Amino acid sequence: MVRYQTALHSDWPRSYNRRALKRKRDHRKTVTVELATQLLTADAAGIAAAARCLTAGGLAAFPTETVYGLGADAGNGEAVARLYAAKGRPAFNPLIAHVVDSAAALQVGIFNPDAERLAAAFWPGPLTLVLPKQKDCGVSDLALAGLDSVAIRVPAHRTARALLAAFGRPVVAPSANRSGHVSPTSAAHVLGDLRGRIDLVIDGGPCTVGVESTIVSCLGALTLLRPGGLPREAIERVLGRPLALAAVPEDDAPLAPGMLSSHYAPRADVRLDAQDARADEALLAFGQAPAHQGLTLNLSPRGDLVEAAANLFSHLRALDASGTRHIAVMTIPHEGLGEAINDRLARAAAPKP
Ligand code: TXA
Ligand code: MG
Repeated sequence: MVRYQTALHSDWPRSYNRRALKRKRDHRKTVTVELATQLLTADAAGIAAAARCLTAGGLAAFPTETVYGLGADAGNGEAVARLYAAKGRPAFNPLIAHVVDSAAALQVGIFNPDAERLAAAFWPGPLTLVLPKQKDCGVSDLALAGLDSVAIRVPAHRTARALLAAFGRPVVAPSANRSGHVSPTSAAHVLGDLRGRIDLVIDGGPCTVGVESTIVSCLGALTLLRPGGLPREAIERVLGRPLALAAVPEDDAPLAPGMLSSHYAPRADVRLDAQDARADEALLAFGQAPAHQGLTLNLSPRGDLVEAAANLFSHLRALDASGTRHIAVMTIPHEGLGEAINDRLARAAAPKP
């Protein structure tokens, strides 16, 4: 039996919460849920049901022309936290925001002329652009892994476009596989990996491209971050010049500790496993916080790891923005999403280069 921990969510449909309650186990602060993953057909009813699921904070897998994606409401940090938990990712890597068209993409990222040319030439299609994020980009800090940049994709698949149009806001979607497994190109692959861990999958048949999108960073010199479904030569023809090359690790691979440019790092020093905070420290608490004169933000007063993951990057940023030089972080349990939270905190605490 596959299980994962989740928090009851008051916005979820009542039937969802009833199921969750029925399966309540002996956890004080979390419940263990096995979801009855639905297999939906790619028709109007299936798409409407998937859009409702996303609105309710659920996890809906859907076909794109590259691979099947596991979708969550990009703006809902707790839904994004559950998405990482469902994939079993040991780390929070930034996710791609999927939108229905270029007009929607303009609300999410800041385009320079090169990015505009690539979008005009290849969207919709298997190209992801990494751009500086708009201030109110509608993508949660957790989905961005705290970065100031955002990866945006406009998929070409009919079903993906219909779902994005029905939902009306950005959908983050990593490939719909368990961490460490290969990307799925059919609904059966998705079920094989994620049945019981996600709410539904829309069956749109096999993916035509079959490899993930090509990722190009438009932050500075245009750089190929991941080769994929759109050949590099096609991109270079449109630009009239070669792309720089910089491989990013596969999303599931452990990240090299030196890859600081792709990680959010606070300016303040970070002290982990703190029992309490000194006078000159700001406190990042979890669960019941010790008394502290200085600034305190709590990742989850009720000790819920899903809530803590959703708050992690925003709280770190807020503490950093307060101008504090030192941040003390209370102990976070290592189970479930705690593993990824601790991974990110360890990077934040690593000595600065
Ligand atoms: O074809 C695809 O792109 C599929 C379908 C579902 O759209 N999605 C996909 O997502 O492959 P995922 O999460 O498996 O891979 C996303 C990659 C990761 O390597 C991640 O590090 C990179 O995109 N990425 C996301 N945001 C980034 C950013 N701001 N800067 C650099 N890399 C980023
Ligand atoms: Mg992947």
